[in-house]
Amino acid sequence: MKYIIEGGNKLEGTVEVSGSKNASLPILAASILNGKTTKLYNIPNISDTQTTRKILELLGCKVTKKGNKIIIDSSTVTEKEIPEELMKKMRSSVVFAGALIGRFKEATFSYPGGCDIGSRPIDLHLAGLKKLGVNIETEAGYIICKCDELIGTDIHLDFPSVGATENIIMAAVLATGETVIHNAAMEPEVQDLANFLNKMGAKIEGSGTNRIVINGVKDLKGIGYNIMPDRIEAGTLLCAGAITGGKIKLKNVVPEHITPILHKLQEAGCEIKTEKNSIYLEAPKKLKAIDVKTMPYPGFPTDMQSVLGATLVTAKGTSLIVENIFENRFKYVNGLNKMGAKISLVGTNGIAIKGVKKLSGSEVDSTDLRGGAAMIIAGLASKGKTKVDNIAHILRGYVDIDKKLNSLGAKITKE
Ligand code: UD1
Repeated sequence: MKYIIEGGNKLEGTVEVSGSKNASLPILAASILNGKTTKLYNIPNISDTQTTRKILELLGCKVTKKGNKIIIDSSTVTEKEIPEELMKKMRSSVVFAGALIGRFKEATFSYPGGCDIGSRPIDLHLAGLKKLGVNIETEAGYIICKCDELIGTDIHLDFPSVGATENIIMAAVLATGETVIHNAAMEPEVQDLANFLNKMGAKIEGSGTNRIVINGVKDLKGIGYNIMPDRIEAGTLLCAGAITGGKIKLKNVVPEHITPILHKLQEAGCEIKTEKNSIYLEAPKKLKAIDVKTMPYPGFPTDMQSVLGATLVTAKGTSLIVENIFENRFKYVNGLNKMGAKISLVGTNGIAIKGVKKLSGSEVDSTDLRGGAAMIIAGLASKGKTKVDNIAHILRGYVDIDKKLNSLGAKITKE
């Protein structure tokens, strides 16, 4: 499938942000831990949550869905192995490891797949599980994890990995004794997972800081929980407003979660006003070039790197972007240059974006989820038609991005 974008329209109006993809995936997996019924609200309807639902069902959960509400009964789980096909489809399926080990002291899975943005090892996940007492063996491409007991311990992460922090939390909530994660990821999605588990009866302190302390409990309850809004979708919509010289308001958003994005858009010349759950952005006729470096939270998020990069292609001056989290996250640059952007690689992990007067519509590829979003952003500001191919990547993570942008005045059709 493709998106066809007729560029050149100023975006104006109000749009609602959906539930967070990156919070939903570990929370859906964590619903295995209580062995009871969990009701989740505000789950985004995207292909990654559908894949996660398939994994839950394959493991034996009873899952029902009504709109954005998903009910999971995990009392019936029998399987402890995640099929390779589903692991390859979505990298975050690796978080099922922590959930299965936490509840059953065993899990079998293969190396995960996901976006093509460079090597994505899971050594930190495995080292953390090993420290909790899990015996890990590999056989025919599968990783087999087993133990008799999980025992709380001190874990130092070499890098504040989001997935490793989440996996360790899930494996530790039902362990014996206290686990301390040092250099933990501080991302809001980790906090959402910890809040969810605490509501179930877990004892997790310090989420949102780099030192998380988990005291093992014996049992977890069935609960209902509302997933946090998607901060990357919010950032993407704001960038769509910014590149088109628009005036847009976002509803259902937590402004504190996207402070680094808001600061960069302000530096580029946008006027921004925030309220408790809404953000208003008014863009100038022309943005100014800025420099951006991706960092773990609360730094500028790597998932917004390509989207902001696309937003800056028509800015006045030269912007410099440095990617510090993933190795290979500049594949989208070819597509933007095809549309008339002037972007060159700088060193091994940077790009220089020399602002151009205008872009012209072309046929471009979605290289990955956020690379695809970058093509949409550029298409909105291009003269003529932009065809974005391979939108399956985009559908993994954005709920009705075409409809949401069209409600603000864009012209996007699906073909
Ligand atoms: C999560 C997000 C993803 C986001 C990323 C960084 C989900 C579902 N995905 O991915 O959208 O881009 O955080 O904010 O929440 N690393 C290792 N060994 C490991 C694990 C990670 O070396 O065992 C490295 C990675 O290669 C990468 C860095 O750590 O360079 C960050 O990865 P990590 O924080 O783990 O990202 P994910 O949890 O995979």
